[in-house]
Amino acid sequence: MEELFGLRGNVALVTGSTRGLGEVAAKALAKAGADVVVCGRNPGDLKRVSDEIRKIGRDSEGLLLDVTSKASIEECVARALRRFGRIDILVNNAGVNHRVPVLDFPEEKWDLIIDTNLKGYFLTAQAVVPQMIERGYGKVINISSILGGVGLPNQVAYAASKGGVNQITKVMALEWAKLGVRVNAIGPTYFETDLVKQLRNDPERFNFINERTPMGRWGYPPELEGIVIFLAAPASDFITGQVIYIDGGWTVW
Ligand SMILES: NC(=O)c1ccc[n+]([C@@H]2O[C@H](COP(=O)([O-])OP(=O)(O)OC[C@H]3O[C@@H](n4cnc5c(N)ncnc54)[C@H](OP(=O)(O)O)[C@@H]3O)[C@@H](O)[C@H]2O)c1
Repeated sequence: MEELFGLRGNVALVTGSTRGLGEVAAKALAKAGADVVVCGRNPGDLKRVSDEIRKIGRDSEGLLLDVTSKASIEECVARALRRFGRIDILVNNAGVNHRVPVLDFPEEKWDLIIDTNLKGYFLTAQAVVPQMIERGYGKVINISSILGGVGLPNQVAYAASKGGVNQITKVMALEWAKLGVRVNAIGPTYFETDLVKQLRNDPERFNFINERTPMGRWGYPPELEGIVIFLAAPASDFITGQVIYIDGGWTVW
């Protein structure tokens, strides 16, 4: 099992790992043996999550990162490389949303969502992947969404960003396939985090999501752990360019 799923000796960098699904992913990678660079904009949360990872028994550092700024990405990655010497696993996860109808959607929210959820993934991969290519091995995991494949009202920028994430996953996978870098995406359904608190607290939306999901419920954040470890580990070495939905069957019909 260690040979297939163990991550000892690997260094992972997870964007937006100060809370929510990014925090779950960062801790899952640590439990599988990786040292983890925790990234986000809140110093208190950076310290909390990296302290908790050290308690798991792995090395960790919390580094400030704003993925809407190329300079911030480059500085964060340079600091991570100075501290750990390598990044073997990149989880592009930092994401935001804003839910209003297309005709009311503010331009600045469109720009923020695309800059964070799509351009941020692209720029972070540009900063991290060259040193993976130099070593001939690396794993990039892009956190997409069911909205990368299906539409829902009121999420025009978010759906555009996640459709874009699915597409950049394929292009990156093809360009780096012979260079040892695997690139895959995970498409979660609704999981209870800050991002979807508003929907969770709206009984009509909460029930719509339960009824629309073949398995009849939202995801539990720990249910993300297995797929993150799998895509980071040698067990998935012949898989690239895929979007794997973790959605209780939502995208099947
Ligand atoms: N929860 C769901 O139901 C769900 C479903 C499908 C897909 N997803 C995807 O999963 C990912 C994580 O979502 P979540 O639900 O965990 O959201 P969340 O609880 O709101 O957490 C978002 C994370 O992203 C970080 N972040 C936001 N903007 C950033 C920026 N400009 N630079 C750096 N970090 C930034 C936040 O850090 P700060 O502390 O700095 O704000 C936080 O750590 C997103 O890509 C989202 O689209 C979530």
